[in-house]
Amino acid sequence: MTWRREAGSEPWRVGVLFSQSGVMAVIEETQLRATLLAIEEINQGGGVNGRELVPVIYDPGSETRAFALCAKRLMVEDGVTTIFGCYTSSSRKAVLPVVERLNGLLWYPTLYEGFEFSPNVIYTGAAPNQNSVALCDYLTETYGSRFYFVGSDYVYPRESNRVMRDLLRSRGGEVVGETYLDLRAKRADFGPVMRQVRNAGADVIFSTVVGYSTVYLYQSYLEAGFDPRVTPIASLTTTESEVRAMGSEVAEGQITAAPYFQSIANERNARFVSRYKKRYGDDEPTNMCAEAAYFQVHLFANALAGTNTMATDIIKPAVLDSDFEAPQGRVSVSAATSHTSLWSRIGRANRAGQFEIVRQSAMPVWADPYLVGRGRASLSATVR
Ligand code: ACM
Repeated sequence: MTWRREAGSEPWRVGVLFSQSGVMAVIEETQLRATLLAIEEINQGGGVNGRELVPVIYDPGSETRAFALCAKRLMVEDGVTTIFGCYTSSSRKAVLPVVERLNGLLWYPTLYEGFEFSPNVIYTGAAPNQNSVALCDYLTETYGSRFYFVGSDYVYPRESNRVMRDLLRSRGGEVVGETYLDLRAKRADFGPVMRQVRNAGADVIFSTVVGYSTVYLYQSYLEAGFDPRVTPIASLTTTESEVRAMGSEVAEGQITAAPYFQSIANERNARFVSRYKKRYGDDEPTNMCAEAAYFQVHLFANALAGTNTMATDIIKPAVLDSDFEAPQGRVSVSAATSHTSLWSRIGRANRAGQFEIVRQSAMPVWADPYLVGRGRASLSATVR
């Protein structure tokens, strides 16, 4: 195989694939913004080896099929090899055959269900051992072990719940009910779910609802008269941005597990938050998905500075084992799994729409996408 070396001062063109419309825009638009912020920072610093990064952006409109079509268009018509994109696991799974067949590199900045390895993906969001394990411990120790699962109806919630069910059972708990709703579910669809939760006598509502219907879940919870101090909603996907969409008073007291919260107190995060707000508005929060979208562009640019080519077979080895001082703390990409070591944190939403961190790992947690055991050692060192 021969490598085509990018010549002269042509810009580096990269694909960007996040929904700006439809039910997923509430979170994917923040990933787009953070991606563009990182690109802007890199360009302001002179680009990569003197060449600007230029994003080629499509809006798949929260439609799974459109992700595959846009990815193909990026690679075949626009000549792009690197794509930053995807939130839902269904969109990632739609893009996978495209990047695998055409040997592209997808940078995926979203927590997901694990149990996947593609040679054409760098995974920068949390695998289950980096969020579900600590969350299950915290919930069973604090609220009880009868969980009701509420999720959106697609691959991530169902697979993520399979993992959570195993974790819960191994701690002596049980799943007392399970409901999946369409990604486009309406507010009225959640009323009956709240009645089922009450009848089941749940201690915790474990939510894998994503996108705009998250707002309806939390509103319906409040309307049904639940108390988050007794029976909280605990989630892996409800971030500061969904909280902003529902109103911070609606989410107060609810629990989320994530590698990153806007409230993390360190210099790097202060700079990230301040730049994000300067560019997108004071009332626009950052969140875990935006942070991963941001730091993965920096990981990419650092690797590109060394390889000076975006050819997947050359740049990918340069990405593996690389690290970066991210807003969440130092992160590194594992050469064994192409997943990223991330921090594990539990946050409780406050009245201001921010998460107060109630637990965190003492160090980054090794990604263990197949839950074979690695990563547990670092998780055990949790700071309470
Ligand atoms: C997800 O679909 N991976 C949140």
